[in-house]
Amino acid sequence: MSVRIGIIGAGVMGADHAKIFAEDVGGAELRLIVDADPARARALASRYGAVSGTDPEALIARSDIDAVLIASPDFTHAPLVLACLKAGKTVLCEKPLSPLSAECLAVMAAEEAGGVQRVQLGFMRRFDQSYQEMRVALRDGLIGRAVMMHNFHRNVENPAADFTADMAITNSAPHEFDVARFVLGTDYLAVTAFSPRLESGKVGPVVMVLETSGGQVVTIEVNNNAAYGYDVRGELVGEEGAVSLASPLHSRIDRGLQQVTPYAADWRPRFAGAYRRQNRAFVDFVRSGAFPADGASAWDGYAASVIAEAGVTALKEGRRVVVGMIPQPEFYRKRTD
Ligand SMILES: NC(=O)c1ccc[n+]([C@@H]2O[C@H](COP(=O)([O-])OP(=O)(O)OC[C@H]3O[C@@H](n4cnc5c(N)ncnc54)[C@H](O)[C@@H]3O)[C@@H](O)[C@H]2O)c1
Repeated sequence: MSVRIGIIGAGVMGADHAKIFAEDVGGAELRLIVDADPARARALASRYGAVSGTDPEALIARSDIDAVLIASPDFTHAPLVLACLKAGKTVLCEKPLSPLSAECLAVMAAEEAGGVQRVQLGFMRRFDQSYQEMRVALRDGLIGRAVMMHNFHRNVENPAADFTADMAITNSAPHEFDVARFVLGTDYLAVTAFSPRLESGKVGPVVMVLETSGGQVVTIEVNNNAAYGYDVRGELVGEEGAVSLASPLHSRIDRGLQQVTPYAADWRPRFAGAYRRQNRAFVDFVRSGAFPADGASAWDGYAASVIAEAGVTALKEGRRVVVGMIPQPEFYRKRTD
């Protein structure tokens, strides 16, 4: 039987998830799409033969919805995930779980009280082949012990007029916070942050240096106004070698004495495979009840949120900030531990 899915938020990501569930992931059926903007919900729902609405709580309460995809703005995530848990619905929530670690703790407490994991987070880079190969290279000893991981996250321009350097840390960088934890298998001890000024007056890049509990250094550059294209780079440096991410490349243009490789305008083409593998894993999760081996949990969302809060303080106060996480609850330890 198909997993009956309801989507909250019909913007860029909601539309992409709708397409993935409807066209690219078997075993999923789009039932209902809601958005604060009724016309947007209607337009997306009609494309896939789903019903539209404006009330997320009503969607979550429906008995003909098995699972929920949340793609509304960041501040709505934690309250909606809590509503899903209350209704016994499995949920794939876009990142971040919350910009506030206290809200993540509330989600974790509610999930643990229910006795089963129901919350998967949209840290899709865990499902990207290049990060997976990096992780396997480390695990298999190909580069020796990990020493550093360098990460670059560049967007053409920041998404909203009210975007701030803090949001570069709380909204964009969580992908890097999470995937470096995933690759290295460690947590963070401390963070330092810098933001060079742009002449244009736009939000400048944020550069963070993170120290891990495994003794490694992780660097993260988030540049939301890089102008030239969507570009994610990364390199894991070990004591005996290094692994770099290679972005998938489907064509090259030879012209005017030059060879040109185009950049995408945003994240969707770069991580197309990762989104699809992530959503397939989510459908399997809903069916089996077994949390996906590579999936990001509410605990991972909490970890990213604590680090983001420390990063914002580090940037604001110009100092090294120690990251203070609670010990990992037994409930979130991988069953294979
Ligand atoms: N995983 C990724 O790679 C990735 C990439 C981009 C964005 N995101 C995340 O996805 C989420 C959505 O981002 P987006 O780029 O699609 O934004 P968007 O602005 O394009 O879409 C958000 C939609 O939510 C609707 N909305 C606002 N408040 C709502 C509410 N209370 N209930 C229902 N709908 C509401 C808006 O009308 C809008 O249509 C954000 O949390 C963002 O952090 C994740």
